Amino acid sequence: MKAKLDQIREQALTQIKSCDTTEKLNEIRVSILGKKGELTGVLKAMKDVAPEDRPKVGQLVNETRAEIERVMEEAKTRMERAIREARMKSEVIDVTLPAKKVRIGHRHPNTIAQEEVESIFIGMGYEVVEGPEIEKDYYNFEALNIPADHPAKDEQDTFYVNGDILLRTQTSGVQVHEMEKGKLPIRMIAPGRVFRSDELDATHSPSFHQIEGLVVDTNVTFADLKGTLAQFARELFGESTKVKFRPHHFPFTEPSAEMDVTCFKCGGAGCRFCKGEGWIEILGCGMVHPNVLKMSGIDPEKYTGFAFGMGLERIALLKYEIDDLRLLYENDIRFLRQF
Ligand code: DAH
Repeated sequence: MKAKLDQIREQALTQIKSCDTTEKLNEIRVSILGKKGELTGVLKAMKDVAPEDRPKVGQLVNETRAEIERVMEEAKTRMERAIREARMKSEVIDVTLPAKKVRIGHRHPNTIAQEEVESIFIGMGYEVVEGPEIEKDYYNFEALNIPADHPAKDEQDTFYVNGDILLRTQTSGVQVHEMEKGKLPIRMIAPGRVFRSDELDATHSPSFHQIEGLVVDTNVTFADLKGTLAQFARELFGESTKVKFRPHHFPFTEPSAEMDVTCFKCGGAGCRFCKGEGWIEILGCGMVHPNVLKMSGIDPEKYTGFAFGMGLERIALLKYEIDDLRLLYENDIRFLRQF
């Protein structure tokens, strides 16, 4: 019996020694210590051992088992360490390498200008709304008092999708959408993209942005328009900014005007920036035409309103003294980072 146990142990130790993976080690464990393993077989044969020898043999078996288990455990630890070391060697991290710089994005000058305009009007109790960029002819022209044969339709070279649907040429159509909702009073601004069939140059682009404004309520007068827009100009361009209203024509407002602000560079004296004028035009405005109110279901005898519209890029160019519109669309990070 002893010889048998010695043989099992010797054999096990040699196998373990030459074993190089934990899987093989496990196979060896099963073949010796498992249910049908060799050592287990010796235990089962105990019934053939004389009763008085059994304790002695039992102890021998246990010692053999313990030794095999210990050697196996050592082998396992050795293999696991080797695996870990190999992995550490193959996954070297050089902590002394300089870290990648995290570049934080930057708001576009258009966005900065838009948010500034929005915050001024929100401060005056206006709501910011949006309208569709693909628009019906009705909202872009017809409902704004621009019938099919109106010359103003020629002025705005339009991208038509079909005879009835187009890319909006102005944000003024959002006025109509708001009025049609039937909720009064209205005090809203509507920023958004507009499209015109223009060549791209320093002052034109086939796609740009406008900010529309509309107020409809009882007793709204031209004085409200002037007061509101003058306050807006002071907040946007500085406290000392003065405004001037020049009569103009828009089909959807009557009377209509264009508003100029004193040049914030020279204060109105005239400089290169304002081309010697002292004044810079920034928006169109007027009292909402009674026809426009009527077409959207508002009684012009009871309600009046004023509207205005400005080019967002123009505001951004002025505020940041950029002299070429195209710079706003090229998205050159070296340019954008300056604002
Ligand atoms: N929609 C006009 C344009 O694109 C700008 C404008 C002028 C809007 C007068 C208005 C307004 O609301 O009252 O040229």
